[in-house]
Amino acid sequence: MISSAPSSSTASVPGHALSGRSVSIVGSGACVPARVLTNSDLEKIVETSDEWITTRTGIKERRIAAQDEFTSDLATQAARRAMAAAGVAADQIDLIIVATITPDMVFPSTACLVQQKLGASRAAAFDLEAACSGFIYGMEIGQQFVRSGTYHTVLVIGAEKLSSVVDWQDRNTCVLFGDGAGAVILQHRPGSRGLLTTVMGADGDKSKLLYMPGGGSRCPATTQSVMSRLHFLRMEGRETFKHAVQAMISAATEALRRCQLEISQIKCIIPHQANRRILDAVGERLGAKPEQLFCNLDRYGNTSAASVAIALDEAARAGRMQRGDLVLLVVFGAGLTWGAVVIEW
Ligand code: UT7
Repeated sequence: MISSAPSSSTASVPGHALSGRSVSIVGSGACVPARVLTNSDLEKIVETSDEWITTRTGIKERRIAAQDEFTSDLATQAARRAMAAAGVAADQIDLIIVATITPDMVFPSTACLVQQKLGASRAAAFDLEAACSGFIYGMEIGQQFVRSGTYHTVLVIGAEKLSSVVDWQDRNTCVLFGDGAGAVILQHRPGSRGLLTTVMGADGDKSKLLYMPGGGSRCPATTQSVMSRLHFLRMEGRETFKHAVQAMISAATEALRRCQLEISQIKCIIPHQANRRILDAVGERLGAKPEQLFCNLDRYGNTSAASVAIALDEAARAGRMQRGDLVLLVVFGAGLTWGAVVIEW
């Protein structure tokens, strides 16, 4: 669909000139499953303790989807809330992007299932896989369509049912992850600069730090692959931690440099919610004050592509940023992948 909206404001960022219409988040929404799994619940499943999980990660509880509750269900509910906040009807949506590593099925895409559930029959739809960085990758792709004038309204969703790929016998990983979804509606909003810049990066050399060996074309499901627990995620936690801190600091620093901003000018910093110690290290190295950082991982754990999407929605609804405030999102995940976005709210 070619939009007839006028090309008015242009977000121009020194060192990274953007042409075309500005693109704003005009509504956000989130959805987490009802079931809460606390650290003390986990003590009954693996050899762990609330004390270990809390001090090493900051996580107290996470949400776990029901057996008949899928990534597309969480994604659809988050999308409905974002659409309500934006005042957008299903038939106005031109494109749906779902960032996920836990699609309902290998194919068709979860985005197509969401399109059907929403009744967004005009929308094109596809999934995007950049692990925990997927939501920022998705926003960048979506905003390019709006900026160019190709599309008027893009729905970007980060959604996961990580409980379906977590090895519940592996205490190194099963305590970390949770399920949920977050969504935003992207449109041109006259008079607002919106998304100012996006940094994205990847390093496939380190793909084995965090991955799931089975289920793809390299290792399709066999009795042997299932018995060998190859269909669960694996992570080298300590090594991943180091790269997470470095990559998030450099992505955030580059995003601020492009916009010629100091960290003190950012109202709210929303990092990928993987580990409280990562958040604190990133905040400290960027020179941020603790009150600038938004953290909800104590309640949800690491929800991968949904993480910053849920956090963004919660921060907005909690009044952590007002129209015109500057917001910094910064992410890191499997791939390795990373990214940062500066937004004028
Ligand atoms: O979202 C993508 C990005 N993900 C991340 O960035 C996650 C990055 N990594 C981390 O957050 C941390 O590395 C973890 C939370 C995963 C682990 O924390 P750590 O301080 O790096 O611990 P560790 O892996 O070095 O393990 C320390 C000890 C080990 O015991 P030994 O070998 O020292 O005897 C582990 O076996 O803690 C043990 N351990 C546990 N103990 C109780 C590991 N998991 C648990 C557990 N409960 N759940």
